[in-house]
Amino acid sequence: MTVSDCMGVEEHRNWGDVDYSALLNGQAFPPNFMWGVATASHQIEGGNANNWTRFEPTSKSGQESGIACDHWNRKEQDLDLIENLNVTHYRFSLEWSRIEPEMGVWNEEAIAWYCDLVDRLLERGIQPMITLHHFTNPLWWEDLGAFEKEENIIYWIRFSSKMFERLSDRVDWWCTLNEPAVYASMGYVLGEFPPGQRSFKKTRMVSVNLMRAHARCYRTLKSMENGARAQIGLVKNINLFDPYRRWNPLHRFQANLLDGMFNRCWIKGLKTGRFKPPSAVRSIAVEGLKGSSDFIGLNYYTHLLATPFMPTKVEIDPLIRPWEERTDFRYPMYAEGLKRAFEMVAQLNIPIIVTENGVADDDDDMRPEHIRRHLQITSEAIADGFDIKGFYHWSLMDNFEWAEGYEQCFGLYHVDFETQERTLRKSGELYASIAKAHRMPQVVILAGGLGTRLGEKTEHKPKSLIEVGGKPILTHILDWVRGQGCNRVLVLTGHHGEQFDGFAHAGLDLTFVQETEQLGTGGALWNARDHLEDEFILLWGDDYHPIDYAPLVQHHRNESSALTMTVTTEHEVMNLQFEDGRLLKYSKEDDAPREFNGYEAGTSVVSKSIVMAHGKEGAWSWEKTIYPALADQIHVHLDATKFWDMGTPERLQKLEMFFNETRR
Ligand code: BGC
Repeated sequence: MTVSDCMGVEEHRNWGDVDYSALLNGQAFPPNFMWGVATASHQIEGGNANNWTRFEPTSKSGQESGIACDHWNRKEQDLDLIENLNVTHYRFSLEWSRIEPEMGVWNEEAIAWYCDLVDRLLERGIQPMITLHHFTNPLWWEDLGAFEKEENIIYWIRFSSKMFERLSDRVDWWCTLNEPAVYASMGYVLGEFPPGQRSFKKTRMVSVNLMRAHARCYRTLKSMENGARAQIGLVKNINLFDPYRRWNPLHRFQANLLDGMFNRCWIKGLKTGRFKPPSAVRSIAVEGLKGSSDFIGLNYYTHLLATPFMPTKVEIDPLIRPWEERTDFRYPMYAEGLKRAFEMVAQLNIPIIVTENGVADDDDDMRPEHIRRHLQITSEAIADGFDIKGFYHWSLMDNFEWAEGYEQCFGLYHVDFETQERTLRKSGELYASIAKAHRMPQVVILAGGLGTRLGEKTEHKPKSLIEVGGKPILTHILDWVRGQGCNRVLVLTGHHGEQFDGFAHAGLDLTFVQETEQLGTGGALWNARDHLEDEFILLWGDDYHPIDYAPLVQHHRNESSALTMTVTTEHEVMNLQFEDGRLLKYSKEDDAPREFNGYEAGTSVVSKSIVMAHGKEGAWSWEKTIYPALADQIHVHLDATKFWDMGTPERLQKLEMFFNETRR
């Protein structure tokens, strides 16, 4: 059904007809999609002293943030909550007022707390995404006038660069400002956020300074060490405005006006470098603004229906369509609008990340459907060609919802604020299962072999620990694995497994399982069966095979395959025959029959059920047992990427040359 054609088409679907099965069977999103949850420092940490704590007694709800979720003292426990959601990414913000409580005074303890948070996330294979400004200011900076004055920006840049210096070696994702249009309109038009003012003049000044601050921050961080590698972007809330009655020119005029002020002018500013702040007559050039985002963070919650008599306070019930459902926040659930929000930000021609989407729903009777609908729209948009890299649910747990206090509950976990007990909601279970069905599989590396053929020095050394190109081959493999979006790795070691003690790799949750005796490739997998996930990528610990995992995994999942192996047809010898995407014969013997037309290149995707069905105690070979037994059920994924092994000194030397060249 289409209600209006003014601000883009206001589509409304009959959601009862929508088939959500792809969300649960892992077919709706590409395997390297970022699955995340988001929070902001002031909303969860507790014990802050900033512009918000000063404002809270006079805010709409009058509720004070107090100890909030006491996250500052419950970091470890909350990390478990994040991990239990099967997410691959976590977005949080740095509380500037803790880090620089007085001008130029740095609190090393607070900095260490955030560094530790980052390290702990990485240990669990969860990638951090840091927001440098999420609505709160240190009191000293608020007293200087915060974003009201251009000359204050330098202090925020100094703070941002300091934290970038400390963390950018291990944090790839950075958000500069969270929702500048919300900060400006809530603080300076509606007066519901600090400093609680109502002045169009100030709104214009603050808006321009926010854009200046964003551009300067982006340029500064980009010029620093790790800057080129880091992904830095602005987070924009897109609130859609639709005319309440589409035939009414006044409603259309109002919707258009609000859309221009809240959405279009900001996007246009970022795109062109010229920014016309809300209610201004002329645009101004903002230095460095054009193209100042590697990605656009999109926060999407709802649409508002515009009439000339728009409420000027948030508490008045907004108008909704009769068939729409109100969230606890009183605005409607309108997932269809997310598509239009994608269209709006896609004008920037940069990757899109949904940095926030969620719903205030204390009893959780709406949230599961809210999640399904918004993910459905996102997956359709990806299929339509939108470059959407990830989705962060707002929020991890119930928290301090700004002017609304503790009444609006956005969490996948319910929080009892008396006891600080967290409980996973049904919607949290749903989100966790969707993330689980889609995230990259676990990687299993067979690293039992020794470097016997590589000379005396390596005779007693596991082959995967042999250094090539300046580091162990295993580290190269893990670099590749991490770059492909995998985060859980199981390394199966043989005798001398103790040589792996202390081996770590930032960003990966690494588990080592040592075999009790020489068990062969099959025996090693059987021995580690309790650690295997239902689906895993199997690699050899002495081969370097830099292929794209996403198409391979997608292939495996689309075919509901039990085993998908990568095959190359460009190899001097052949060890298998395939036809119509299926394996026919496999043989490791030297004399390959003439009809053999492929070579197994190493990387495969395996369903654990195979291990369980064919596994046995003792020593046995995976290839020799499974490949003949499953022959025509095995799917062949063609990929001509060269693979490297280091079985002999000559091949090791070639690999050395390869790494030295790629480093250059
Ligand atoms: C903000 C969050 C807030 C959420 C829900 C977003 O605009 O970034 O801090 O909690 O909306 O209202």
